[in-house]
Amino acid sequence: MTAPAPPAAGRSGRTQVAIVGGGPAGLMLGQLLHLAGIDSIVLERSTREHVIGRVRAGVLEQGTVDLMHAAGVGAHLARDGMPHRGIYLAFGGMRHHIDFASLTGGRGITIYGQNAVVHDLIEARLAAARPLLFGVRDVELHDVRGLAPRVTWHDADGARGEVRCDFVAGCDGFHGVCRPSIPVDAGTVYERAYPFAWLGILADAAPSADELVYSLHERGFALFSMRSASVTRLYLQVPPGEDVNAWGDERIWQELHRRLDTSDGWRPNEGPVSQKGVTAMRSFMFEPMRYGRLFLAGDAAHIVPPTGAKGLNLAMADVKRLAAAIVEFYATGRGAALDEYSPRALRRAWRAQRFSWWMTSTLHVAEDATPFDRRRQIADLEYLVSSEAAMKSLAENYVGISLD
Ligand code: FAD
Ligand code: DHB
Repeated sequence: MTAPAPPAAGRSGRTQVAIVGGGPAGLMLGQLLHLAGIDSIVLERSTREHVIGRVRAGVLEQGTVDLMHAAGVGAHLARDGMPHRGIYLAFGGMRHHIDFASLTGGRGITIYGQNAVVHDLIEARLAAARPLLFGVRDVELHDVRGLAPRVTWHDADGARGEVRCDFVAGCDGFHGVCRPSIPVDAGTVYERAYPFAWLGILADAAPSADELVYSLHERGFALFSMRSASVTRLYLQVPPGEDVNAWGDERIWQELHRRLDTSDGWRPNEGPVSQKGVTAMRSFMFEPMRYGRLFLAGDAAHIVPPTGAKGLNLAMADVKRLAAAIVEFYATGRGAALDEYSPRALRRAWRAQRFSWWMTSTLHVAEDATPFDRRRQIADLEYLVSSEAAMKSLAENYVGISLD
């Protein structure tokens, strides 16, 4: 099917798929549709600089890496991505290696920043010359229950835009407009708040370990990660709503060393802190991920706590499935794959939700934890690092389950 002419910013037009949100989910969906000759418009609230500069995820499952390559945006990832074959779990002052590769028949993960993923996808979108509008405001969805949905907005200069389309993809994250456009009685929310947040930093320091270190310490969780041969990424469990300004660099390094340094002499290298931020932790699921011709994908439909490194990977798995269903619709006129989209995506998301909840509860210290809870956590971790069955379970979930 030939793609209709794209609408110009601030004018009326028609497209096949209107994508709200230019994060990883929206941009990847646009790219996959483009490769299939299907036209779309991507409407993004923030500026290009803000979208690319946002420091978030860093762990890509093999399925996400494969999708980047299949989408023709894998060149930088192949050059700069850091393949890892496992992780370390640290507790009681000791580090224990979990070797994913040997536990899962050779599978692993790749470290590559979400901002690099977004950068690569934006470059591809610009090269494809399909519309991508930054700085849009007041996005509204209309008639998504019918066969002729419309999306309206104001562009960065205040001009009103409107596009008619066949489908709307809600890829606008947790705080977007698409999910709230669905009537409350048309969906169900499942939610859990955690009594923790993460303080994350980027430091100009060479990573002092070859793989990530997840640490449970009596003062709380800490995580050692990286972005390149010269940049270390580190996280500390802090109370929810913590003021980032309460954490000067000296305090951060002192707390990181307390929670991460192990008795074999390993410790993270220090360096100038280039970025600092606090992230809330929640589990959230919205069912179903479809309302008429509106399809939700990624954080717009589900949020997992970051401990299992699943959010970005889930968003990518959603849009891979959604793109295939839309392609099938245009090729055959049948909506069977579109009907399957929500139940299948939810099955995967619940599996990731369970794993992320388990990683979070096993590795964080709740303020009201009893001595019993603490001892049970240690027993859990001791079992984990001594049982091949338990390590396999962690490994297969961490590298990414295949649920196709
Ligand atoms: P988003 O990235 O939120 O993108 C949505 C886009 O929509 C944004 O650009 C937003 O500006 C735009 N938007 C919002 N509202 C509107 C509107 N009204 N109109 C137009 N546009 C709008 N995941 C992993 O897999 N691995 C990890 O290691 C990992 N670590 C993380 C660490 C941290 C500190 C955090 C915060 C998250 C982490 N995640 C991780 C989760 C991951 O970052 C998210 O799951 C991912 O960003 C989801 O992508 P998305 O495209 O669905 O949503
Ligand atoms: C990173 C983030 C995570 O949530 C995680 O579990 C591991 C690594 C990171 O940003 O590098």
